[in-house]
Amino acid sequence: MSKKPNKPGGGGKKARGKSIAKAAGKAKSKASDRNLKTRVKTAKGRKISSTLWLQRQLNDPYVQRAQKEGRRSRAAYKLIELNEKHNLLRPGMRVVDLGCAPGGWCEVATEIMGADADDPKVVGIDYLEMEAMPGVIFLQKDFNDDDAPDMLIDALGGHKVDLVMSDMAAPTTGHKATDHLRIMALVELAADFAIQILKPDGAFVAKVFQGGTENELLAHLKRHFKSTFHAKPAASRKDSSESYLIAKGFKG
Ligand SMILES: C[S@@+](CC[C@H](N)C(=O)[O-])C[C@H]1O[C@@H](n2cnc3c(N)ncnc32)[C@H](O)[C@@H]1O
Repeated sequence: MSKKPNKPGGGGKKARGKSIAKAAGKAKSKASDRNLKTRVKTAKGRKISSTLWLQRQLNDPYVQRAQKEGRRSRAAYKLIELNEKHNLLRPGMRVVDLGCAPGGWCEVATEIMGADADDPKVVGIDYLEMEAMPGVIFLQKDFNDDDAPDMLIDALGGHKVDLVMSDMAAPTTGHKATDHLRIMALVELAADFAIQILKPDGAFVAKVFQGGTENELLAHLKRHFKSTFHAKPAASRKDSSESYLIAKGFKG
């Protein structure tokens, strides 16, 4: 993963008249219909990896669906599916979205919780730019920066939150051990932040890689939450080692 803007979806078109449940159902059935209809020829100057990426994008039913429905990212369907199964979002909740650009998850959250420009219910952070969205306070900032947690807390206006969700992925170097450490450090930082700002009974969702979460972090979360488990939504590519760590029932 690099510091490039998210390629999938990419646009800022407003989603129109969608039912979240309907979207989840349709996305699942389309995913099972996965086939390689479009092949991309290697062009002069284009790397093989770029050709393969383009081919995968053009044939990905979630990318096609995100474009058709005007969603900001295909990642939106991961949250829709996680929410369908694990009941994470409810009207009236407050949420922090770590690594929120281009805004697919923010959009799903505001659709479910209600977007209120006078009392924004979602605070998002990303080091990339994000197009403004009603009901969302956006900070363009690296979450690793020392002052990032305090800036998020300020943006929340003193309110504790019901859900901290993180779709962040640390940029990879190609060196496996370094990449693993960086990924885990980011998840640990997100978990510590969640423990700091969650309301009792709140929840934490974070993207993790390579077959799950380290025992130490899991043990830490188990001390603070009633249940912890991993989930892989259908929208998460099967050939990717990503899954989502979910911790529910914050105990304090
Ligand atoms: C997979 S994308 C998130 C997609 C988003 N959930 C959506 O639905 O549109 C991951 C995001 O995490 C951001 N990110 C990664 N590390 C970060 C960090 N340390 N601080 C802030 N943002 C970070 C990236 O810039 C990227 O936009």
